[in-house]
Amino acid sequence: MTDRSAIRAPARLAVIVPVFRERDNVAPLVAKLDAALAGIAWEAVFVDDDSPDGTTAAVREIAARDPRIRCIRRVGRRGLASASIEGMLSVSAPYVAVMDGDLQHDETILPAMLRAVEEGADVAIGSRHVEGGAAAGGFSAARGALSDAGTRLAQKLLPVPVADPMSGFFLLKRDLVEAVAPRLTGRGFKILLDILLTAPRGLKVAEVPYSFRAREHGDSKLDTKVLLEFGGLLLDKATGGIVPLRFVAFAAVGAIGVLVHMLALALLVGLLDMRFDLAQWAATLVAMTANFVLNNRITYRDAKLRGPALWRGLLLFYVVCGLGAAANVGVAALLVRDGIVAWGLAGAAGALLTVVWNYAVSSTLVWRTR
Ligand code: GDD
Ligand code: MN
Repeated sequence: MTDRSAIRAPARLAVIVPVFRERDNVAPLVAKLDAALAGIAWEAVFVDDDSPDGTTAAVREIAARDPRIRCIRRVGRRGLASASIEGMLSVSAPYVAVMDGDLQHDETILPAMLRAVEEGADVAIGSRHVEGGAAAGGFSAARGALSDAGTRLAQKLLPVPVADPMSGFFLLKRDLVEAVAPRLTGRGFKILLDILLTAPRGLKVAEVPYSFRAREHGDSKLDTKVLLEFGGLLLDKATGGIVPLRFVAFAAVGAIGVLVHMLALALLVGLLDMRFDLAQWAATLVAMTANFVLNNRITYRDAKLRGPALWRGLLLFYVVCGLGAAANVGVAALLVRDGIVAWGLAGAAGALLTVVWNYAVSSTLVWRTR
């Protein structure tokens, strides 16, 4: 027989907190949640992407005393959206909330958000842009302008009016998350937007105002790459996900690589008077290296290679691209020799083949995303 006294009451609300380098914010946040959620059976799941500052240890220390607190430590992965999804899918509470772990979101509105969903809304959003809300304190001027432009763009795509679709602070029924999870892109920062764009039409959205607080400890992780990721998410949703985002990024990096190649070639031949075939080899090496670095930072940032794996990956990438280039030349030559197509088309076909090949092998062997 199960000893019933050993079982604590199951949580009604699970608060998912994606964290990266937030060590000093963990304890204050737990204290704030405890105060704000008095009278509600709650739990919190911190999802930490193996932060180097000891964020996981800070959570575990509290969890050792408080069974409402849990930690998911993800190794070799990065991303606010995917961390949030994994956290939401790890719980069994009927209601789940996602909130930042840096104290910028106001936890005192969580009970009002819960009430809104209990009373029939599908999603409650902590909103900076409805009467009573404010965004001023939390963002730099540049970030604020970027956020506004993104908000307007997102509002054009959304089937329902939402004042703050860029919010990272929301609460919904777990059932809804489970239903949409397989179709979420899981990329970037805009997890709420991803959910709103993926969910069936006619969602009922309630917005609860709050003022975005200024950060005290640590720093924001989304200054530089926000735009790229955001553009990618919208593109993915606008095209119905036919072309994988990663492929678009890979192809864009490839295009930059062509520029790098031409620049290096011009420099070596034009300025340094190097022999053309030698310069061509050198420029190829430079371009491949640049592509590798960019892909590691952008295309495969969630599977970023470091240390010895970085060097192993670079060598493998050279081999992969080398084979890709050989296939490119081979295919184009065959097509032209057999008079199948003119050289322009043959060249394009060869290049396309190379990009697809490089992408497929990079995704499976070099960065192992599958
Ligand atoms: N697990 C994990 N992995 N967590 C991450 C990662 C990551 O790669 N990157 C950031 N986080 C965590 C941070 O530690 C923080 O708890 C939260 O996600 C938000 O990151 P910030 O870097 O503080 O973002 P912000 O303040 O600039 O913007 C946030 O708030 C806005 C307003 O709601 C984001 O949530 C935006 O999406 C949102 O618009
Ligand atoms: Mn923040």
